[in-house]
Amino acid sequence: MHTISDDLRLDHRAALPAEIALLRAKYPVPQWPAHTNYGELAAFWLQVHDALRAEGAALARVSEDFREGRTDIAAFERAFAPRLRAYLQHLEGHHRIEDAHYFPRFRNLDKRLIYGFDLLENDHEIIHEQLLSVVDSARSLLQAFAVGDDALRYGVDTYAERADRLLVLVKQHLADEEEIVIPSILEYGELALR
Ligand SMILES: [Fe+2]
Ligand SMILES: [Fe+2]
Repeated sequence: MHTISDDLRLDHRAALPAEIALLRAKYPVPQWPAHTNYGELAAFWLQVHDALRAEGAALARVSEDFREGRTDIAAFERAFAPRLRAYLQHLEGHHRIEDAHYFPRFRNLDKRLIYGFDLLENDHEIIHEQLLSVVDSARSLLQAFAVGDDALRYGVDTYAERADRLLVLVKQHLADEEEIVIPSILEYGELALR
């Protein structure tokens, strides 16, 4: 695995440079669905990403609604842990399949793709670190529900701050991954990835 240069790390970059998103210019997004190599796998990949975006937005809404007084403590306490658990399980499950199954196949297709997939795998590690920090703050928040007042306010703020940071990282990762994965599928076809 390549070491990822500092400016290209998920927590530092704003976009992928053209030398990493090698095939991005060759396959502009509006042309993806009409391409002959756009099949079930590409469509499914994008569907999973859209689902993660929607679940992430719903998760953010739960703490936002409570912090802005639109829901009470009881509703927040009921909603936040199950929603967080479901989101994190989906996210980690998706990353596991990518790391174990798909990324190695993409690397075998074309040597020039290796650095990009190493970078995406490094993104998963950065996301995982942030996820652990979110889980940690979620545990403290669950304890703070019993204490109330200041402890609860502090618990919610810390949790929301860390969860928001996680969602920002995931959002960037999903967008960048699509710019690498979908053009690679269009270039080489889905059969090569089975
Ligand atoms: Fe990923
Ligand atoms: Fe993904």
